[in-house]
Amino acid sequence: MKAAELTAIGPASDVVRCVEVAEPGKPGPGELRVELTACSINPADLLLIEGGYANVPETPCPVGIEGAGIVTAVGEGVTAFVPGDKVMSLNRTNWTQQLLLTEAQVIRMPAEIDLEQAAMLKVNAATSLLMLRDYVTLAAGDWVIQDAANSGVGVNLIRLARADGIRTVNVVRRPELIEPLIAIGADVVLLDGDDLAARVAEATDGADIKLAIDAVAGPIVERLGDCLGDGGVVVNYGLLSGEPCQLRADQVVFKDIRLMGFWLAKKMPAMSRDEVEALYGELATRVVDGTLSVPVTARYPLEDVSKAMAHAGTYGRDGKVLLRPNG
Ligand SMILES: NC(=O)c1ccc[n+]([C@@H]2O[C@H](COP(=O)([O-])OP(=O)(O)OC[C@H]3O[C@@H](n4cnc5c(N)ncnc54)[C@H](OP(=O)(O)O)[C@@H]3O)[C@@H](O)[C@H]2O)c1
Repeated sequence: MKAAELTAIGPASDVVRCVEVAEPGKPGPGELRVELTACSINPADLLLIEGGYANVPETPCPVGIEGAGIVTAVGEGVTAFVPGDKVMSLNRTNWTQQLLLTEAQVIRMPAEIDLEQAAMLKVNAATSLLMLRDYVTLAAGDWVIQDAANSGVGVNLIRLARADGIRTVNVVRRPELIEPLIAIGADVVLLDGDDLAARVAEATDGADIKLAIDAVAGPIVERLGDCLGDGGVVVNYGLLSGEPCQLRADQVVFKDIRLMGFWLAKKMPAMSRDEVEALYGELATRVVDGTLSVPVTARYPLEDVSKAMAHAGTYGRDGKVLLRPNG
């Protein structure tokens, strides 16, 4: 069968190859065999492959942080799953046709779920929901501001906030994104720029915004800080600009603006199995009821993994790039 392999640390389109590997065979006790239907390619995969993530893997090694598929066989002692069940993988080596996983490494998905959407829940949807909930207490009618608003995380955040009556100011860097984001429920969409705070104040009627969510870092953090009310929190969760997060002393001292970091990989181990199941159960329900939906711009077979890597590393895309390991 086919699998993607990281052959060395380097440019993603050069170092990830499709290779032939042995089929996993019959699941052992407590294991399931899963056929992967869809796997998303996230910025975190590219960072890991290119050596910029929190850990640098030893190569050659399997890769792929997200994936969802169908159980094809279960081992002795497995009672919670049967062949045909849809699951999302919690494992981090998913870009392959089949995997053997333990029960603890999968989350059951509802039968009605679109497995492409299920393959985008683990990282981005969970990140959006937890950032909305864990830093500031928000009520219906409150405002949140975010940058990279057309990203997978950003789109989920708009949709989740909308469902709870929370209003969003969305900052993007391309004008053609304004209408599509309004169409999915964004309240305000603005192009980034030096006068951002004045335009936000005008668009929100001077709202006291308490939460800013930032994936970019660099000087935009300062502009987001200027949009917040006293005591507001900037939650940084990405390093898209590659620059340090920037806040002025007067923002920190006089306005008590706080900068905090979010990393799902650190949050998850602190959660119990029940909490993890509840989180993904809620997100899966939101996919099935139509609240959550992330656009997909392209799908590639594993044989074209290099092309998929190049495409995923191109910005200005209009959705996620997916691998479809089994066609
Ligand atoms: N901390 C965590 O636990 C966690 C979890 C999930 C995701 N993340 C991070 O969240 C970020 C978004 O991930 P995603 O999967 O949602 O992204 P995505 O769907 O692949 O979209 C990429 C986004 O990044 C924007 N972008 C790229 N470079 C930029 C720059 N220099 N300045 C401003 N915007 C830039 C793109 O804007 P254009 O469309 O205009 O190119 C687009 O909005 C990534 O940094 C990822 O690593 C972190």
